[in-house]
Amino acid sequence: MNKILFLDLIKMHEPIRKELHDAAIKVIDGGHYIGGEEVKSFEKEMASWLGVENICGVACATSGLFATLKSMGVGTGDEVITTVHTAIATAEAISLTGAQVVFCDVSADGFNLDLDEVEKKINSRTKVIIPVHLYGQPVDMDRVLAIAKTHNLKLVEDCAQAQGAVYKGRKVGTMGDAAVFSFFPSKNLGGFGDGGAVTAKDPALMRTIRMYSNHGRESKYDHEFEGINSRLDAIQAALLRVCLKQLDGWNSSRRQVAAWYDAGLKGISRLKTPKVLSGTEPVYHLYVVIVPDRDALAKHLKEKGIESGVHYPYSLNVLPAFARLNQGKGHFPKAEYACEHMLSLPVSPTLTKEEIEYVCETIKNFYK
Ligand SMILES: Cc1ncc(COP(=O)(O)O)c(C=O)c1O
Repeated sequence: MNKILFLDLIKMHEPIRKELHDAAIKVIDGGHYIGGEEVKSFEKEMASWLGVENICGVACATSGLFATLKSMGVGTGDEVITTVHTAIATAEAISLTGAQVVFCDVSADGFNLDLDEVEKKINSRTKVIIPVHLYGQPVDMDRVLAIAKTHNLKLVEDCAQAQGAVYKGRKVGTMGDAAVFSFFPSKNLGGFGDGGAVTAKDPALMRTIRMYSNHGRESKYDHEFEGINSRLDAIQAALLRVCLKQLDGWNSSRRQVAAWYDAGLKGISRLKTPKVLSGTEPVYHLYVVIVPDRDALAKHLKEKGIESGVHYPYSLNVLPAFARLNQGKGHFPKAEYACEHMLSLPVSPTLTKEEIEYVCETIKNFYK
């Protein structure tokens, strides 16, 4: 068996290599590198794929989240609730506005936000909740939407890892007040560098986010307010247009890979496979299992030529970056436990049944 890569981007892109090259060359030869037709076309195509009115391409999801919160008027004195188990970007975007990040633990049976804890942490300073559809597994949106409505809070979906995931027939990113996507190369829809997109329900908010991401302007020198430079490059947009056409197929392949794992790992009593919330169709950005002896299993897999990963080794509360919150080890026991016991298995949409069976057999042999 050849080495099994965690994510084989070169193999994934092989069937569209020529189309990608042509798209890049068209931009290079066209001489227009910021904004323009490619960005507009990508935004239109992604909006239509998602089923929303409007999408704004941005430089990355981090700046997209930041621009969204700023455009909602979030700042000093406000609180924004999110999960302690996410990429640091989610929390950074909150802190950068001057608002206080309020972490919640993960739920007992999954890796997403514990919504009971969210309710407990809401107070008069709370302005926004950011549910993160982590690993491509949708959050319980009915419940989080009800919480937001009851307390008159805004909801920003962090869909960085969940392009195409479905909750009760609706794609994630279509339910909150706004939603943010990342096109970091390893994401389900990945670019060839950094990139992201934002959508917002309210056209006025969407307009502000678009302006905020482009120095507070709509036309060249008419700066209505100070913003930032967070634009999607024309070359990324052109390449993403090619990849967007593959996204549904890639997502089905990831689901197939997950189904093969579910079947192949059944019966290993010391290993927990991902739990799927009823009524949802995850897109398996990651396939994460919980095991008692994570590091030893990862080492065993590596020796057998199988890559694996840990997403993430630390919950945000224990990182030096959040020492100011005084919420070190012990504050978020479920997330901390998960970080010590989780292992992400290879999820490349290019993986074959035979390869997944090999990974499952290797894990079974480890536990024999
Ligand atoms: C959940 C989550 N939110 C936000 C981000 C930030 O995305 P970007 O790298 O596009 O800024 C990431 C990227 O890793 C992520 O996984």
